[in-house]
Amino acid sequence: MTKSRTLRIAMTVGVTVALAACSSTATTAPTTAPVVTAPPVVTAAPPTAAKVYTYADMVVGFIQTGSESGWRAANTSSFQETAKEKGLKLNFYDAQNKLENQITAFHQFNQDPTVNVIILAALDVTGYDDVLKEAKTAGKVVVLEDRRINADASLYYTYIGSDFDAEGQKFAAAMCDALKGFPADKHNVAEISGAVGASAAIDRAKGFREKMGDCGIPDPTSLNLSQTGNWGVPESKAVMEAFLKKTKNIQGVIGHNDEEAIGAIQAIKEAGLKPGKDIMVVGADATADGFKYLISGEMFADIECNPLLAPQVYEAALKALNGDLSLPKWVPSQEGQFFASQGAAALTDILKTRKY
Ligand code: AHR
Repeated sequence: MTKSRTLRIAMTVGVTVALAACSSTATTAPTTAPVVTAPPVVTAAPPTAAKVYTYADMVVGFIQTGSESGWRAANTSSFQETAKEKGLKLNFYDAQNKLENQITAFHQFNQDPTVNVIILAALDVTGYDDVLKEAKTAGKVVVLEDRRINADASLYYTYIGSDFDAEGQKFAAAMCDALKGFPADKHNVAEISGAVGASAAIDRAKGFREKMGDCGIPDPTSLNLSQTGNWGVPESKAVMEAFLKKTKNIQGVIGHNDEEAIGAIQAIKEAGLKPGKDIMVVGADATADGFKYLISGEMFADIECNPLLAPQVYEAALKALNGDLSLPKWVPSQEGQFFASQGAAALTDILKTRKY
């Protein structure tokens, strides 16, 4: 409050008091009109300017899925490196691919008064309602990264991650391209899918099935050639070995990530068949490991899934801390795809420019 304002109020009060003293001493009915004093002018305290948050004020509770793939390692690095660059405090939690661990960590971050932002990479599409409601009550900003969930959108600020359905459709388009040299009745494709319950696996499977009919690919499920490889090489290799023991009438295989496609390639080679000739392989993530198999020609196509989401996610969280809720409920990642047909030299040059 400025001095002049203080002085004015003191004077007003003083004058009022003086006037009241005068009138309070009157003993007979006044012969002149009473002096009416205006009530003291009370002005509200000036509004305090709302705090403007900066990254230095941001304390993040980040709940990661685990460390199941090269993609995940790049995703984790993105959040750790960007936190250092921005000067924000990152409390990183690795759930080791267990949903119950994610829920426990979420609850603990909700109880931590120093945490003002919670970022979740959801292992599953369900199971988070209670901790999301608890976060809302606690006034935490919640941002979903990488994976979408089936929850009331009012329980989180926004979701920043891939359009996995579109990625699945790219799987189908690439596989139709890969099978062009095969007879129309030889378009049997096996599917090694991601972890059960993960939105990335659910939506990639859905997108693939939306477009596979464009070139007569039968549903892998109807052929009993669809099974999870849990995002990893060993389990995916075992799945493909089992498929090949069941039937050699397989012309293509899609892996929901590069590790699963690489596991399939290993099994195909150990069965005495040539990946990229006898059986066409399409993977996802476009990691450095995936690029190696594009360059060798053993993988036909690699559908990119962008793990470097931290800058966008932190920026969204800072907006929310400052009351800017203008972002849509989903901000799709920007991503492309790569093909062996681009040639080893060109792919090698592209790989040199990539961060993962
Ligand atoms: O959600 C993205 C997926 O999660 C990636 O494709 C996979 O590698 C990771 O485990």
